[in-house]
Amino acid sequence: MMRSHRCGDLRTTDEGAPVALCGWVHTRRDHGGVIFIDLRDVAGLVQVVFNFSEAPALQGAAEGLRSEFCVRVEGEVRRRKEGTTNEALATGEIEVAATSLEVLSVSATPPFQVDEHHDVEEMLRLKYRYLDLRRTRMQSNLQLRHAIVSSIRRFYDAHGFTEVETPMLTRATPEGARDYLVPARLHPGSFYALPQSPQLFKQLLMVAGLDRYYQIVRCFRDEDLRADRQPDFTQLDVEMSFVDREDVLAVTEAMFKQVWAEVLGAELQDFVRLTFAESMARFGTDKPDLRFGMELTDLSGALQQTEFRVFQAGKEEGGAVKAIVLGSQGGMPRKQIDALVEEAKALGAGGLVWIAVADEGLRSPVEKFLSEDEHRELPRAAAAKAGDLILIVADGHAEVVDRVLGSMRNRLGKHLGLVPERARADPEAWKFAWIVDFPWFERDEAAGAWTAIHHPFTGITPDTVDYLESAPEKVLSKAYDITLNGWELASGSIRIHDRALQERVLAALGISKEEAQARFGFLLDAFAFGPPPHGGIAPGIDRIVALAAGEDNIREVIAFPKTQSAADPLTGAPAPVDADQLEALHLALKPPGPT
Ligand code: AMO
Ligand code: AMP
Repeated sequence: MMRSHRCGDLRTTDEGAPVALCGWVHTRRDHGGVIFIDLRDVAGLVQVVFNFSEAPALQGAAEGLRSEFCVRVEGEVRRRKEGTTNEALATGEIEVAATSLEVLSVSATPPFQVDEHHDVEEMLRLKYRYLDLRRTRMQSNLQLRHAIVSSIRRFYDAHGFTEVETPMLTRATPEGARDYLVPARLHPGSFYALPQSPQLFKQLLMVAGLDRYYQIVRCFRDEDLRADRQPDFTQLDVEMSFVDREDVLAVTEAMFKQVWAEVLGAELQDFVRLTFAESMARFGTDKPDLRFGMELTDLSGALQQTEFRVFQAGKEEGGAVKAIVLGSQGGMPRKQIDALVEEAKALGAGGLVWIAVADEGLRSPVEKFLSEDEHRELPRAAAAKAGDLILIVADGHAEVVDRVLGSMRNRLGKHLGLVPERARADPEAWKFAWIVDFPWFERDEAAGAWTAIHHPFTGITPDTVDYLESAPEKVLSKAYDITLNGWELASGSIRIHDRALQERVLAALGISKEEAQARFGFLLDAFAFGPPPHGGIAPGIDRIVALAAGEDNIREVIAFPKTQSAADPLTGAPAPVDADQLEALHLALKPPGPT
């Protein structure tokens, strides 16, 4: 028998037991005549003692042990001496007195220490990911991921859903990112696209009569990477037939409640519901962090008569002038305030006006531009009190104001300590919300065209469908998102299942009939054969796990993620290929041009 126990499982109840353990040398302390190692396996650490007066034969081998050697130890569990117990360790009341030691394999000096207490550079962590993954934090992240996915599968199994796999080598699916393309050897000049999501296939499965589908599925998107975005990532993809919005919302919310209860021990409250318009007005974003207040306020009323050029821009048609208030931050040092102004500019604002409110009046670089009335009215309109700092952005485009203040709010709330540390099992730690009633279109000013906020298969509310051709900005979609603590977790909608309406929508997006037929003809054709009304949703697994684990970057919950530049330092992907491979694919490379 290779081993009798796992290191991290041993307790005082095992006292006196002979054990055989396998694992890695985590740390080694030589006390002259006695060597202590912390032996680590998947279950945790245990202290092993090599006492050369008790087991002289082990001296040579024990002295040769180094970090990350893989070893097998036999010995006896005993209680640690009074005063030498380690409360930080689950096994801290016992240790194993070694009677034999076998080195199973040696380790080169690791490029970094495998423990929690050292910051290691990202590139190095990813290049030696197998060592990085030996760390307790990473092990528990992967285990948490497994627990969450298992719980999700149990939920959908119990609710009559069938998991169906959909192709990876397929045609482009329009989720708004660039496709990853795969050249087709057997079809010179043609390419498969890796799916940005299984969107079209899950809709075809509804036409096929599957009724309730789910899949834990890899998706691929070539887009700018951020903390919550990877080029390949995992969705929990769901679709249901004969449902309206409330059915999808109810099933999905029940799933999250089960997972949070089973895995984190948190009994979630019902999700808050916000319309897109309300979310934008109050929080400046459609992914609000609801763990704190600090809502945006509209100052246009208080600034009706403003003489100040900057604020006047906010009163133009389509413009806005809004504020957030940093409570008790009126005394913020000038350098920090300047950094806030720079942050606002980096986010796209023309600038940022700050006003410190005090009992004796307002202090601000623009003080002289404000009338007496405004001195009185501004703090009231912003709901600021003496000691607070008001931050104001004005712009001829209300979206700019919302985007700038919304993202500053999400960041500052955490930064200023407005988000209290809470245990995982505390329902207050998890502010889930449904965002509903999205506009269907958004204006792409650069392209001078209307684009879909969600994807082109998203349903339209019956009362706004007539605006499709005349006033696209008034068209509301049947889409819904789930947000959690400032992240977008999931997105979905009730779909269009009417071929004629789908064609009108594609036309409104500027996609010609021919192009529509070429790109999505297979879906439009399927809609000729009695498609059921259907709808669904896709939560991002990586984001769910990252939030549950308390990580800021989804990289920390993916075994083998990519860097910011979509590279994998471990395998060296992406990499050039041989000339004959290119030849077989009928490809010739152009010299790289300017990027
Ligand atoms: P959407 O494009 O909003 O919708 O994606 C759904 C969810 O997938 C996750 N996600 C990502 N996670 C990590 N890295 C990425 N690059 C990334 N992109 C998206 C997010 C997001 O909320 N087919 C539709 C869903 C539907 O309508 O049913 C879709 O893919 O958590
Ligand atoms: P300026 O005249 O551009 O130097 O701006 C005067 C003050 O108004 C400075 O404090 C700027 O940071 C601020 N400011 C400029 N543009 C805006 C804007 N769009 N919104 C809020 N404040 C602004």
